[in-house]
Amino acid sequence: MITLLTKQLHKVQAAHGLSKKELAVSKKILQKHIAGALARDQHFHNIVDDTETVRIIEQYAASVKGSYDHVVLCGIGGSALGPICLKEALTHLYAAEQKERNHPILHVIDNVDPAMIAEVESILNFKRTLFLFISKSGNTAEVLSMYLYFKARCIKEGVPFSDHALMVTHAGKGKLYELGTKDELPIIEHGPVGGRFAVLSSVGLLPAALLGINIKKLLKGAKQMRDKFLSIDPKQNLPFQMANMQYLLTKKGKHIHVMMPYSQKLFRFADWYRQLLAESIGKEVNDKGKKVNIGITPVKALGTTDQHSQSQLYNEGPNNKFIMLVHAKSLHKTIRIPSLYKGDKSLAYLQGATFNQLIDAEREGTADSYTAYNKPNITIQIDKVDEVHLGGLFMLFEGATAFLGELFGINAYNQPGVELAKKRTVTYLKKKR
Ligand code: PA5
Repeated sequence: MITLLTKQLHKVQAAHGLSKKELAVSKKILQKHIAGALARDQHFHNIVDDTETVRIIEQYAASVKGSYDHVVLCGIGGSALGPICLKEALTHLYAAEQKERNHPILHVIDNVDPAMIAEVESILNFKRTLFLFISKSGNTAEVLSMYLYFKARCIKEGVPFSDHALMVTHAGKGKLYELGTKDELPIIEHGPVGGRFAVLSSVGLLPAALLGINIKKLLKGAKQMRDKFLSIDPKQNLPFQMANMQYLLTKKGKHIHVMMPYSQKLFRFADWYRQLLAESIGKEVNDKGKKVNIGITPVKALGTTDQHSQSQLYNEGPNNKFIMLVHAKSLHKTIRIPSLYKGDKSLAYLQGATFNQLIDAEREGTADSYTAYNKPNITIQIDKVDEVHLGGLFMLFEGATAFLGELFGINAYNQPGVELAKKRTVTYLKKKR
């Protein structure tokens, strides 16, 4: 179950928080927003029904099971952040150091820093490595350069590239598809969604399946939330509730939205969301072509770590932030802090408590402190970090982002600012040679 706890938001001063009345929306208005969001939608909400892609992916994952120790994913932006999040949330945090594993280790190369490429390469046994290239356009310099590089490296290592590589891209489009076809690689269709909305498509599902993650359960959670996204009952429609809070608080000057999970395994979820919100809502012009320079600056933070790095700023700095804490009711393990110094009064509050109680108390105390400083905050509560809940969280924020595009009257699905930089990169690289 995923719940939005908004108690703290109602407690802060009216100028900085939101009352239940401000958040209220009629079925009729909600219906209008759903219709508006769907009219703009690029199918992110119905890719979760694509059972054929699930079948293809599960079949591929089963056919290569046990063949590889390493999967090297070459992709950037939406092609990388979802898979990184899935890996961190749903597999062992220290898989690379685990003595025994049932599945390969995923390395995501989402940068063209040669130090990173060289260091990943240095730990690979090419005979036991699968290279996965992901790109929607098939024309991204980062991915194409890595394709050329790792193909050459496979040849040098005497490893047949077509047995050690596959790709996710649009069939029939882009340079990557052309190369993959010539090299006879397996090609899995990218699907109709843009990168940052693609984690629940083959982009996220394929690496997840290779890591042994249950992709059907991931989609089950996503579908449950998709049904809420389509619900005209304001109490049910969590994505709209989320977007409405974000929109109204932005209007009140809260232009920075902080995602702060109290779960190490969900830190990369905040990273995934950072791209989704920044690229989707940061726009120069609105639907009417008017220059608006809309945007919300996403910030990722981690509880409790960033209480000792960011909370001073959040509490005493400018009141321009909306803080979204994430609480997983179960963190899977329960560990007790031992009572080594019986009778030591200064340690009494810690000794015998569990780390679970400590992290909960830290979150509640921190939320209270934000409220005391009149800093708007909510808590997104999930039962546990698992496939079903993560699928639900992805869809919650994809849906909320779709509604935000509708509320601001902007196109949440394009990224002209990114495209410009891509073009200029080509010009600079030509000049350097
Ligand atoms: O969300 C997006 O659309 C972008 O961040 C892309 O994922 C990123 O630019 C990579 O593009 P491509 O998938 O075409 O290689």
